[in-house]
Amino acid sequence: MSNPGSLRAVSTSAIIVAAGQGQRFGGETPKQFALLGGKPVLVWTLRQFETCPEIDEVVIVVHQDWLQQVKADILAHEQFQKVSRVVPGGVERQDSVSAGLSSLSASVEYVAVHDAARPCVRAEAISRVVLAGRAYGAATLAVAINDTVKRVREQVVCETLDRSSLWAVQTPQVFKYDLLIQAYRAASKDHVYLTDDSALVERLDYPVRIVEGDSDNFKLTVPGDIKRAESILIPG
Ligand code: C5P
Repeated sequence: MSNPGSLRAVSTSAIIVAAGQGQRFGGETPKQFALLGGKPVLVWTLRQFETCPEIDEVVIVVHQDWLQQVKADILAHEQFQKVSRVVPGGVERQDSVSAGLSSLSASVEYVAVHDAARPCVRAEAISRVVLAGRAYGAATLAVAINDTVKRVREQVVCETLDRSSLWAVQTPQVFKYDLLIQAYRAASKDHVYLTDDSALVERLDYPVRIVEGDSDNFKLTVPGDIKRAESILIPG
């Protein structure tokens, strides 16, 4: 871990949120710390940010109970030059992102928020969404939806949505720092909790640019997903 005291001009900081408990994943260990090819999922995620040239700094958000373990068992053994701090998260993902945002220095211009539970993100895709974030102020990785999607109520279809305009959004999502701060302040004032950062920025009527990613950047959700991630990250 780099020395937090050694301040340097930072342009794009990443907030890696890893403070969830992962109810659907089961077991004692939250999914972001499950072993994938012998290493915690978080390590695979961090490696991509470490090697991405567009990322200057990485802040990790973990549950209070995991702070020491992450520092002693993960960061002490991996040489991550960009990780500047590990901070405690909150009850909801939004609280955890907010904690990460509060820990950033005022010199940050752009913020990339990423789910630790998406270890198959590629450094090249991170670069593309950061460049779009810098160009447009707000951008997210996403994939076009191939299945037909229906709105359902009490197990009965109410509506078939127009597939041609539907995208499944992923992370990283990249925003101008001031814009994301403004979105978080507005959400806090209005007591609004949404499932991604883009939605908070959309509330300000700010256009969020879609950057096409790929389906490998999926979010680990159930235990079987570890095998799928291993087949992507450790082929053959
Ligand atoms: O629960 P879900 O899979 O949607 O979480 C997405 C990401 O947000 C995960 O990496 C998880 O660790 C993180 N998270 C968090 N703090 C929470 C809830 C989720 O950092 N309170």
